[in-house]
Amino acid sequence: MEQMNQIALRNKFNEVFKKTKMYFFAPGRVNLIGEHTDYNGGHVFPCALSFGTHAVLCKRDDNTVRLHSLNLPEKGIITAELADLKKLPQNDWANYPLGVLDVFQRRGYNIPQGFEMLFWGNIPAGAGLSSSASIELATAVALNTAYGLNIPQIELVKIAQEAENKFVGMNCGIMDQFASGMGKEDNAILLDCNTLKYEYVPLNLRGISIVIINSNKKHSLVNSAYNERRQQCERALKALQRELPVKALGELTIPQFEAHKHLIQDPVEQKRAKHAVYENQRTLQAAQCLRAGELEKFGHLMNESHISLRDDYEVSCPELDLIAQTAWEQPGVLGARITGGGFGGSAVALVKDENIKNLIDTVSAVYTPKTGLKADFYIANVGGPARQIEKIY
Ligand code: GLA
Repeated sequence: MEQMNQIALRNKFNEVFKKTKMYFFAPGRVNLIGEHTDYNGGHVFPCALSFGTHAVLCKRDDNTVRLHSLNLPEKGIITAELADLKKLPQNDWANYPLGVLDVFQRRGYNIPQGFEMLFWGNIPAGAGLSSSASIELATAVALNTAYGLNIPQIELVKIAQEAENKFVGMNCGIMDQFASGMGKEDNAILLDCNTLKYEYVPLNLRGISIVIINSNKKHSLVNSAYNERRQQCERALKALQRELPVKALGELTIPQFEAHKHLIQDPVEQKRAKHAVYENQRTLQAAQCLRAGELEKFGHLMNESHISLRDDYEVSCPELDLIAQTAWEQPGVLGARITGGGFGGSAVALVKDENIKNLIDTVSAVYTPKTGLKADFYIANVGGPARQIEKIY
C-alpha cells in the first residue's frame, strides 16, 4: 500500500464502490453505392467513418436508466425503469438507446441493474450518415461489454436494426447498423443483404478521396416516403412472383427483370423495381471495379445510381440534384451520387486529390445562391467498427 499514488487510489475507490466507467465508440457510415437495395434483398457497399458516437457507461445499483446527450443538452436527463421501457415522443433521441435495451431484454439477455450513459456524437445531425445507427451500436456494444453478455457483433447489428424497426418505428433495412457494427479501416463492405454474407474490399484509391457533401437539407417526410417505397417494391415483387420463383428483387438479373417487367402493371411500381434490380447489379459491378482498380468505371456507376434514384426511385431533391450535377461537371470528379435514404442529407463523390479544392469552391459558389443553404464538405476517413475504446477506471 505504500506505493499507492493518487491515480491508484482513485482506481481503488472506483473498484470498491463499483464506479467503473466504460468508454465506447460506434461509427457513422457512408454508402458508396447500393441504395434502397438492402430491404430488397440486394447488395450494399458502405464504409464506416471515423466519426460517429462516443459513449460512456457507468452501472447503477438500482433498476433505473439515465441517459444524456451532450449534443442535445436541452433535453436534460432522460430516465426510464428497466422493467418499463416505452417509446415516448418526449424521449426524442433517447428512444434509440432505450429501444436497444428493450430488444436485449426481450431476447432474454439479463441486464440485472440500471446504468447511466452519456453520449456525444460528431456526425452532423440529419446528414444521412447514420447517426442513429451509431447511437444504437454504441449502446449495444456498451451493454454487451458492461454486462458480460458475449453476444457476437453480428447479433448486436441485428438487435440494433430490430430496435429501430420495432421500438423506434422506422422500417429500415440492415445496411446502416451493419456498417457501424462491422466496418473495417480503409475497407468498404460488400454485403449481400439476403444472406448477410459479406466481404471487405480494400479502398486502394491512390490519390483519390471519398468526399462527402452535406446538403444541409434536413430529411423531411423520410419515414412515410421510405415506407411507401418499401411497399411499392413489395407489390412489384408479388407481381413478378406470378411467374418467377424469387423471394426478393435482389435475386433478379437484368435480363430476367426485362423479360418479366410487364407483369408489374403499375408504372410507378415498375420503376421502383427497376431501380432495385439495376442498382443491385451496379453494386456488384462497382465492387468488381474497386478490386480491379477501375475507378473511372466505378465513378460512372455512381452517376448512374444517382440518376436512377432521381428518376426511377424518386428519392432525390433539388438540392442533391444540384450538388451531383455540379460535381459531375468538375474536373477530377470520377462520380457523385446521393448517399443514404435521400430526400436531403448528403452526396458522396470520388474526387482526385488535386481537384478537391475546385470541387468545394465551385459547388459552394453554385449551391448557396440557388438554395439559400450552405453545403459542408468532409473527406471521409474509413474507420473501424463499433467497439470499446479504452478501459479507464
Ligand atoms: C436508410 C436506411 C437503410 C437503407 C438506406 C437506403 O439509410 O436506414 O437501411 O435502406 O436508407 O439505401
